[in-house]
Amino acid sequence: MTQRHRTAIFANWTPLAVLGILISFSLGSAGSHAWAQAPQTVTATTQRSSGAHQNDGPWWKHALIYEIYPRSFQDSNGDGIGDLNGITQRLDYLHSLDVDAVWLSPIYPSPQVDFGYDISDYENIDPQYGTLADFDKLVAEAKKRNIRIIMDMVMNHTSDQHKWFLESKSSRNNPKRDWYVWRDGKGVGPDGKPLPPNNWVSLFGGSAWEYDPTTKQFYYHEFYKQQPDLNWRNPEVEKAMFDSVRFWLDRGVAGFRLDAIPTLFEDPQLRDEPATGGTNAQGDPNLSDIYTNNLPEVHDVMRRLRELVDKYPGNRVLIGETYLPNVQELDKWYGGAKHNELQLPMDMQVGFTNKLDASLFRKRINDAETQINGNQPLFVFDNHDNVRSWNRYGDGVHDQAIARLIATTLLTSRATALMYYGEELGMVTTTPTRKEDVKDPIGITGWPKEKGRDGERTPMQWDDSKNAGFSDAATTWLPVAPDYRTVNVKTEESEPSSLLHWHEQLITMRRNDPTLRDGKQVMIDESNPSVLSYVREGVEGHPAIIVALNFTAKPQTISLDPSAAGVHGKAVTTLLTDAPSLKRNGSLQNITLPPYASWIGSVK
Ligand code: NOJ
Repeated sequence: MTQRHRTAIFANWTPLAVLGILISFSLGSAGSHAWAQAPQTVTATTQRSSGAHQNDGPWWKHALIYEIYPRSFQDSNGDGIGDLNGITQRLDYLHSLDVDAVWLSPIYPSPQVDFGYDISDYENIDPQYGTLADFDKLVAEAKKRNIRIIMDMVMNHTSDQHKWFLESKSSRNNPKRDWYVWRDGKGVGPDGKPLPPNNWVSLFGGSAWEYDPTTKQFYYHEFYKQQPDLNWRNPEVEKAMFDSVRFWLDRGVAGFRLDAIPTLFEDPQLRDEPATGGTNAQGDPNLSDIYTNNLPEVHDVMRRLRELVDKYPGNRVLIGETYLPNVQELDKWYGGAKHNELQLPMDMQVGFTNKLDASLFRKRINDAETQINGNQPLFVFDNHDNVRSWNRYGDGVHDQAIARLIATTLLTSRATALMYYGEELGMVTTTPTRKEDVKDPIGITGWPKEKGRDGERTPMQWDDSKNAGFSDAATTWLPVAPDYRTVNVKTEESEPSSLLHWHEQLITMRRNDPTLRDGKQVMIDESNPSVLSYVREGVEGHPAIIVALNFTAKPQTISLDPSAAGVHGKAVTTLLTDAPSLKRNGSLQNITLPPYASWIGSVK
């Protein structure tokens, strides 16, 4: 089976790259999952921390954060759409996976044009997902299991049905007129239609300006036209949005994932963006995004937001959806050496490299270790906007091994780890095959070049029963992926060689080993183009740990010398590997890694 897959559309979202470029490309088949061995009862290797090492920094520094797309996690009322009570029902699973925090993509009231990223009320819950009481229950039940709840906060834009926008568009004199970005057009075109103020295009296709015939002006929208951008140059906007931030902090949330946060400001002079050549999947000219993305003004807002959040006890955290072109730009989002902006802007450089290139991974992980002023990196390989990592990195032949390699990279790095539901199972992107089935609007307007993001939002696969245990409904909002009979929690829990079990082992090691928690990450064998190897320096008298990952389809033999990283011991013990031939390896010399194999050992 050969599928066509969309690249990471948001991963191309950098000032240097083309805003909204939607490239399709062919990748190999997702491959079939081979759970070859007979099911066995798991002897629980996953044990939550005994409470040791709890004093080594704020909780988020060592966290495993798990993104839930609420529509697709668990349906509790049989309407085919996931909901908050469904998530509450599944907390024991998250606890057994040893998740520290859940990031919920938006659950606020919304017309659901962009499935919640178009918010019409920032201080309530959409009835599709439940009530504020259900939310409070979720927070309380999660807390009993040491799991924190992180909200998605969409500050760049509201829904066009939000009362602020309805007021704003009602007349040019309305007090809220200036809460959004309204501008006069450039007259009338040859077809008699009003011309937009400039050439800016929406990331989701077409002009970023929408004409309002009532007040005869255009409003700006970086995303869908139903998502008008707020005007952050108006202090009242910040005040209102910060009030909503407080509303949720008072309710006990552990922090926020800040949606599309680099797009808060636009050039006040509305200068045209330079064309960079060609057109994107939506048929729009490719433009540089220098006047609509990552403007420096945003950092003042981030500092004020950080001050607000820091007034609350319990180390509330700010996570940024920060697709940035390089580590220097990323560092600014922390506030650099001042550490006074976001604690965890997402590093998309590592997880969305989109090719298994050991040298590139080495450089980017090393950048995060050495170039961000001692701030804490946050690595992420999967989310609800991008083709799943299984498909982006898989070659159709070694997909299981590649998924283990990705998991090992994520969970043995010093970075805070962010995972997307189902990543631990090897859930794949299941792209719609017919336009009439597509739910994501960009998949409808972009068909067939851009098929939208439905494929990575399919229901969580819990077991091999109807609808994969996600819902009792006759039909679910998106179809369950066809591989659910073998790729599901129940089956993988009973299979020692499953990807779920691999994740569990890594998460347990990472939780309990002080070296994996805090040891400096130092690259070794640095000129090797095929194998990525690094040391985690030993802490508190614990041994150093060495990780070696074969990024190729061929066996690779390596000999490692970690002395430059201060590791001189000779006693090598294999801690975890998926290469049967290396299970008892006790040497750093002549290690032969099978294709895409992962090996983790300690050195004393
Ligand atoms: C980024 C979100 O992750 C994506 O799903 C959404 O469509 C845009 N921001 C607009 O809010």
